[in-house]
Amino acid sequence: MIKAVLFDAYGTLLDVDAAAAQLAGSGRFPKLQSCWPELASIWRTRQLNYTWLRSLSGSYKPFWEITSDALDYAMEALCLSDPEMRDALLKLYRELAAYEDAVIALDAVAAKGLPAAVLSNGNHDMLKKAFSAAGLMGKLDALLSVEDVGIFKPAPEVYQLGLDRYDAKPAEIVFVSSNGWDACAAGQFGFQAIWANRAQMPVERLPDAPNHIIPDLRALAQYL
Ligand code: LAC
Repeated sequence: MIKAVLFDAYGTLLDVDAAAAQLAGSGRFPKLQSCWPELASIWRTRQLNYTWLRSLSGSYKPFWEITSDALDYAMEALCLSDPEMRDALLKLYRELAAYEDAVIALDAVAAKGLPAAVLSNGNHDMLKKAFSAAGLMGKLDALLSVEDVGIFKPAPEVYQLGLDRYDAKPAEIVFVSSNGWDACAAGQFGFQAIWANRAQMPVERLPDAPNHIIPDLRALAQYL
């Protein structure tokens, strides 16, 4: 029996590359035209690295601040430092576009009469702003945040938030992520882990593997 379907936020429902892509497309900062993919990549990589490093060293701080730190690093690495560009990128990141298939997946969950929730590294404030801006709040039963446990994924305390919310056993939760390492950790925790492998990456060499791999969220319905 499935009690709830939990979704990762950044990279799964929300397009983490959208901020850099949109600002480059606006033409406001010509320097971004050629290097926005690299900026987006360094930004994301550092953001995740900082969550893991801060979890290991016991120095949690909200994901929004980590996102800002990672952007500062990425901009400096590419000699792009510019306060106006920084503000514009962070403003766009607060309101990241949802992937087209996000609505399809959330509607598929609702059609099964199941609650859909987000389980994310994002702190409460940024999750609320992002999902309100994306117009998805009405389709979500809850926004579960690592902020309540003060440590980031893949710490088991984070996945436990889903069990507590739905009074569920691990196997009663379907967890969907486009981040391969997140899907592996959720599988290790005991969730029915589904990896939406948007970028067609190899399976991560980690203790557990996802239960199912789908190309994008359109294919989720078959596993509900
Ligand atoms: C999240 C990160 C992993 O939303 O993207 O939790």
